[in-house]
Amino acid sequence: MGVTVTGFDAATASDTDIRAIADAVYRDKIVLLKGQDLSPREFLDLGARFGEPVTYYQPMYRHPELAEIFVSANEGGYGVPKTGKFWHSDYQFMPEPFSITLIHPQVVPSRNRGTYFIDMGKAYERLPEDLRKAIVGTTSFHSARRYFKIRPEDVYRPIWEVMEDIERETPPVAQPTVFAHPVTGESVLFISEGFTYAIEGADDGVLQRLLHETGQLDPECAHPNIHLQTYEQGDLLIWDNRSLIHRALHTTTPEPTVSHRVTVMDEHKLYARAL
Ligand SMILES: [Fe+2]
Repeated sequence: MGVTVTGFDAATASDTDIRAIADAVYRDKIVLLKGQDLSPREFLDLGARFGEPVTYYQPMYRHPELAEIFVSANEGGYGVPKTGKFWHSDYQFMPEPFSITLIHPQVVPSRNRGTYFIDMGKAYERLPEDLRKAIVGTTSFHSARRYFKIRPEDVYRPIWEVMEDIERETPPVAQPTVFAHPVTGESVLFISEGFTYAIEGADDGVLQRLLHETGQLDPECAHPNIHLQTYEQGDLLIWDNRSLIHRALHTTTPEPTVSHRVTVMDEHKLYARAL
């Protein structure tokens, strides 16, 4: 899955170059730019050429100087460790999920650091016919509640109060279970183990079957739908957040790890039409 680009220079890239990369993101799902060494400002500026950057709703994830940069880190005094260790699409629990995600690892541990991906367009094509029929015209519900991370200010608060906060700040969101991608037109199954909790209009058990068939319940992440992208210093990964779901692979060694993320909204809606 994806394409690798060498020789890219963010400082001199023309609008045509950016367009070509954006086209590849939609067509090939993942673009890996090699040999990048961008400051937070340069990284954010590059992200802004693919769409409007969105600042993460929870302050604890934000870079102290550039709020639009989301920081996953286990050292350095800011950011949040071990983010995204479950299948999801970024902001799937929000009314407007991101179009494109960019990741630029800053400190890469020597082992076991990467991101697993599933192409939910391809996964939909591979579903058994009866399962595809069972979800036509249905609506899925998404919530942040299952993987909500306790914030520093939540310590010593009753858990029910924290849960009420979650429901108030991020109430459940309804989206078509399958939709047509607004750029490629392909059919995308828009569900994840991390955020999707119900499908309205489908029989009991259909959601679990979908999660199983797409590979999201495989604890070994060895399902044929799953692609593992590992990182080395200088990598900058850009992906289509509408059609890919992902899950972080975090190193189990005590090595430092720091990664910067920028997420953007392009000029299209989440989907062209519900299916
Ligand atoms: Fe993520």
